[in-house]
Amino acid sequence: MATAMVIGTQWGDEGKGKIVDYLAQKADVVVRSQGGNNAGHTVVVDDQAFALRLLPSGILFSDKTCIIGSGVVVNPAVLLEEIAGMTSKGVQISKLEISTRAHVIMPYHIRIDEEDEKLKGDAKIGTTKNGIGPCYADKVNRVGIRVGDLMNKDVFAEKLRMNIELKNRLFEKYYGCEGFDYDTVLKEYLGYADQIRQYVKDTDYSANVYVAEGKKVLFEGAQATMLDLDHGTYPFVTSSNPTAGGACTGSGVGPRRMENIVGVVKAYTTRVGAGPFPAEQINEIGDMLRNTGHEFGTVTGRPRRCGWLDTAVVKYAAMLNSLDYLAITRLDILDNLDTIKICTGYKFKGELLKEYPASLEVLENVEPVYEEMPGWKTPISKCKSYDELPEAARHYVERISQLVGVPLGIVSVGPNRNQTIVLKKIF
Ligand code: GDP
Ligand code: IMO
Ligand code: MG
Repeated sequence: MATAMVIGTQWGDEGKGKIVDYLAQKADVVVRSQGGNNAGHTVVVDDQAFALRLLPSGILFSDKTCIIGSGVVVNPAVLLEEIAGMTSKGVQISKLEISTRAHVIMPYHIRIDEEDEKLKGDAKIGTTKNGIGPCYADKVNRVGIRVGDLMNKDVFAEKLRMNIELKNRLFEKYYGCEGFDYDTVLKEYLGYADQIRQYVKDTDYSANVYVAEGKKVLFEGAQATMLDLDHGTYPFVTSSNPTAGGACTGSGVGPRRMENIVGVVKAYTTRVGAGPFPAEQINEIGDMLRNTGHEFGTVTGRPRRCGWLDTAVVKYAAMLNSLDYLAITRLDILDNLDTIKICTGYKFKGELLKEYPASLEVLENVEPVYEEMPGWKTPISKCKSYDELPEAARHYVERISQLVGVPLGIVSVGPNRNQTIVLKKIF
């Protein structure tokens, strides 16, 4: 058995795509198990950037099997566009599998997402408006349409009719906006069905067979721990479980099969969308991180909120995901700083908190506690080994590992594959 998992430890965009692509070099199978096209994973190969949203980041290797698992929500139009985009860049898509159990994002999900955000006004979540939440809501409400349903014209027609009837009533009477025409949506989606049919199968079985055969199977997390529906900064979260447990549920592979759980930690913190962010820097530090790191959303283009690294967050993520190793990314973005701060915990009403607060009312009023370290003031993106890193950079990542209580596995100093320093070989 040889499995590994890549999980975001903060609020997303930690560089999961880069780490997955790096580890995929030695893997046989890469599995996405939750989220949808709210994810934006950028992989850089020989300075050419590939932006992936639904396709697993192993797709750049034509010999790797890539699975879109049961827990993913699939917008077929986006998926087909992504496949076409990859094909036009010379990527051969031959070993893709899409779970028959994955739920389908319908146009009414996207409209509900948009209308809900408008209605919420100042309380809006700042979603990616891709219909992710409403699609998962239908799944939980047991009225969702699955990829397998889409493969059967009669079943799909029936389920779509019921859904359009219900949703149109909602659009007309509650949202006060236009609904959808049944025949138009039916025709559009049956067209998608024919184009994705070749990839659809019961991936709960195939994923387990690959693991049992001893293939190297890599689970690719999307979003991140603090966006987890159950454990994140609710309600400012996504609608799936990006934590390690979610990889089991969303792939159908049990927890005893999961090894080498790698938590990806950006060397500072970013967040897109609304919600508490104690170590946020709304000042020249935040601006510097955004400008140096080009911190603008891949999916929405929104400027990302930036702040110091918060090990209270990463320590909480280490616990929730039972992390084995840390992969620290984007260390090079800190190259020019004289001093670097780490948020090591929070004070609330003068008392140091021992646990990550569940209450937003507490989290919004905490006072971050910082420790300060000297910067290295040297470009590190050409460093090929751990020893080549400046002493101050080594101290910084070692201090993170110490504060979080998880050993270092990878230190990344640039977006390319050869800008990856491996301290623990995983495959
Ligand atoms: P993901 O959603 O977690 O996969 O992360 P994103 O792809 O949204 O954002 C991470 C960005 O950082 C991408 O553009 C990566 O190519 C880039 N990246 C990853 N690791 C490094 C690194 O170590 N240094 C630099 N400079 N960029 C990196
Ligand atoms: P990757 O995989 C960063 C955020 C949105 C919003 C909240 C809910 O690239 O790290 P949703 O559309 O999911 O209902 O939005 O979650 N969000 C992300 N932020 N990276 C992501 O994915 C995200 N996916 C969702 O900005 O705050
Ligand atoms: Mg991203």
